[in-house]
Amino acid sequence: MISDFKKLQKEASEAIDNSANAADLEKVRVKYLARKGELALVMKKIRDLKPSEKKEAGKTANEVKKDLLSKFFEKRVSFSKIPDSVRKEKEWIDVTAPGVVLSHGALHPITQILFDLEEFFRSMGYEVIEGPDIETDYYNFEALNMPKDHPSRDMQDTFYLENGMIPRTHTSGMQIRYMEKHKPPVRIIVPGRVYRNEKEDSMHTCTFYQLEGLVIDETTSFANLKATLMSAVKHIAGKDKQIRFRPSYFPYTEPSAEIDMTCFKCRGKGCTVCEGSGWIELGGSGMVHPALLARVGYDADKYQGFAFGFGFDRIMSMKHDIKDARFYYKSDLRFLNQF
Ligand code: DAH
Repeated sequence: MISDFKKLQKEASEAIDNSANAADLEKVRVKYLARKGELALVMKKIRDLKPSEKKEAGKTANEVKKDLLSKFFEKRVSFSKIPDSVRKEKEWIDVTAPGVVLSHGALHPITQILFDLEEFFRSMGYEVIEGPDIETDYYNFEALNMPKDHPSRDMQDTFYLENGMIPRTHTSGMQIRYMEKHKPPVRIIVPGRVYRNEKEDSMHTCTFYQLEGLVIDETTSFANLKATLMSAVKHIAGKDKQIRFRPSYFPYTEPSAEIDMTCFKCRGKGCTVCEGSGWIELGGSGMVHPALLARVGYDADKYQGFAFGFGFDRIMSMKHDIKDARFYYKSDLRFLNQF
């Protein structure tokens, strides 16, 4: 009996070993290991043995079955494996092939200069805040001493929404919004997009970016304003740049001044960009009008401050000699990839 099992084990093992493919192997399994296969037939005979021999035969039968099954499964797995030769070919890498260039994004030129400005003003202790693009007439004009019939509104025509709101024409409205909610001292910058009804050309676009600044404290002066703007300009445009003030008028500052900076192109000598003057106009500034302080409930006898606002996309244009401001808003990668 035992020898029957051993003989079967040897035969079946060889058959498993010799099967050339999965189909062959399946035939071997049916022949030897299936429910009516040869192993089952031999096992059936155990029933007829003497009780003393049954135990030994049963043990052998189980061992043989276990052994054959494990050989069978091992062989079957080997057929499902990808042959080494095929795998090597599949996994082969041509290390001399040129690499794939992964394209990655970059910051828009306006964002670059904005980050630069934010970094500068943060280092001076300013808080960076933002305001709504769609503004009420009150914050954009009225609260800045520009009532409905005020001529200075003419310079800032914008678009008008049906609900009476307007896309803000400047970031100055945030001066009021911020002061209404905060007690002095105030030290903020407000970068943001502004909108004007412009006939577009290389110098004018219906939307552009401004940076507003507001400082309110007990001892602020025009000298502080000048030093602040001078440092800012040197930070973003280079140490060789200067600023100058020109007397001007804004309804929300008194006194008011226009800020000019040294021309990028000729460095002050005079060229076509600066129309021979050596200076280019940057923006407006001044000491905050006491009426604004009173409007937001500040004590105008105790507090005073300065404010400024300028279009910073223009600085980027001058820095990189960008001749047409419309490029900023066209999303043309041939332009953007240069930054
Ligand atoms: N809002 C002005 C403009 O858009 C610029 C400006 C002038 C801002 C004087 C100020 C300021 O804060 O004090 O032309």
